[in-house]
Amino acid sequence: MKQQLEAIRADALAAFNAVDSAAALDALRVQYLGKKGELTAVLKQMGKLSAEERPVIGQLANDIRAELEKVLEEKSASIEAQALQQRLVEEKLDVTIPGKAPVIGHKHPMYIALDEIKDIFIGMGFTVLDGPEVEFAELNFDRLNAEEGHPSRDWSDTFYFDEDCRVMLRSQTSPMQVRAMDTMELPIRIIAPGRVYRKDEVDATHSPMFHQVEGMVIDKGVTMADLKGTLNTVVEQLYGKGTKTRFRPHHFPFTEPSCEMDVQCHKCGGVGCPTCKGEGWIELLGAGMIHPRVLEMAGIDPEVYSGWAFGIGLERTAMRRFKIADLRLIFENDIRFLEQF
Ligand code: DAH
Repeated sequence: MKQQLEAIRADALAAFNAVDSAAALDALRVQYLGKKGELTAVLKQMGKLSAEERPVIGQLANDIRAELEKVLEEKSASIEAQALQQRLVEEKLDVTIPGKAPVIGHKHPMYIALDEIKDIFIGMGFTVLDGPEVEFAELNFDRLNAEEGHPSRDWSDTFYFDEDCRVMLRSQTSPMQVRAMDTMELPIRIIAPGRVYRKDEVDATHSPMFHQVEGMVIDKGVTMADLKGTLNTVVEQLYGKGTKTRFRPHHFPFTEPSCEMDVQCHKCGGVGCPTCKGEGWIELLGAGMIHPRVLEMAGIDPEVYSGWAFGIGLERTAMRRFKIADLRLIFENDIRFLEQF
C-alpha cells in the first residue's frame, strides 16, 4: 500500500508539472485528490491494514495529500500569473503613442480648374448657372438652330430616352444659353458648367461623359472684339500672362460667325511637338457671335441686342493646366494620382 501511495505521488507530481492550463490542472485535482480520486480509493482500503500499519500509512497518505495540494496551489498560481502576463502583452496599450491624424480629402484637379474658371468669370460680373443633364432635344438642338437632320442629332452620337428623340442626355452645355435667355432679364452674363454625354468610346482623349463650361453674354453693342478680349483675359489668368492665343474660323449652328480658339503649345512654345501633334497650337474652345435666329427664337430682337458665347471642355482645360497626359486619369479616382494636386 505504501508503494501504491508513493506511485500515486510520483504520477501526480509528474502530471501537475506537465500541465499548462487551469482547466487541465483542475481535472488532475479531481483525478488524484477528488472524492472519487486515486488517493481516496487507496485510503478506502485502510480497513484491511493491521493496527500498527494503519497510523503509519494514514500519516503517509496525509503527508502526500498535503504535498500534492501545496504543489497544486503553486502550479495554479504560476499558471494564473502566466495567463495574466500574456494578457498584459496582448492587450498592451501605449497611451503615449501620438494619435492617428484624420485624413482630410482635397479637391479633384478638374474641380480646381473649374473653381479657377468660376473665380475669373465671377470677377467679371458673370452669374454661374446650373441646369439639367436630362434635356429636351428642343433646347439642345432646335432652339440652337440645329434642325432635324443635323449630324449631331444622330442616334449614333446621342443618348436619347425615347423613340421620338425628344428627351436626351444633353450633348453640350449650350442649351443653358436657351434656358438663360428664357428666364433672365437682359443684359445677360452667365457661365454654366456641367456634365455632357456623347456616344464616344473611352480612350486617352475621349469619354462618353465629360464636362463643359458654357459662357454667354448678351447686351447692346456686344461685338467679336468683346469675345476675343474676354477670352484672352481668361486664358492669361488660367495659363499665365503672355500666353498666346489664335482664333480660327469654324462652324457652329448657333453662332455666326463662329470660331475656335487655340492656345500656343506650352511644351514647345509653338514650334511643333508630340503634345500639340506638330501643330504648335492646342484647340481650347468653340465660340462665336450668337446667331440672330437663336436670339429671335428666344424673343430677343437681334437688331437691338447682340451677344457672344463659348463652350470649353473642362477635362481638357484641367489636363493642360496640370499637364495630365491621359483623360482616363481624371475619372479613375486613383488616390495616388489625385493626391499630387
Ligand atoms: N457646344 C459646342 C460643342 O460642344 C461648343 C460651343 C461652340 C459652344 C461655340 C458655344 C459656342 O457656346 O458659341 O462643341
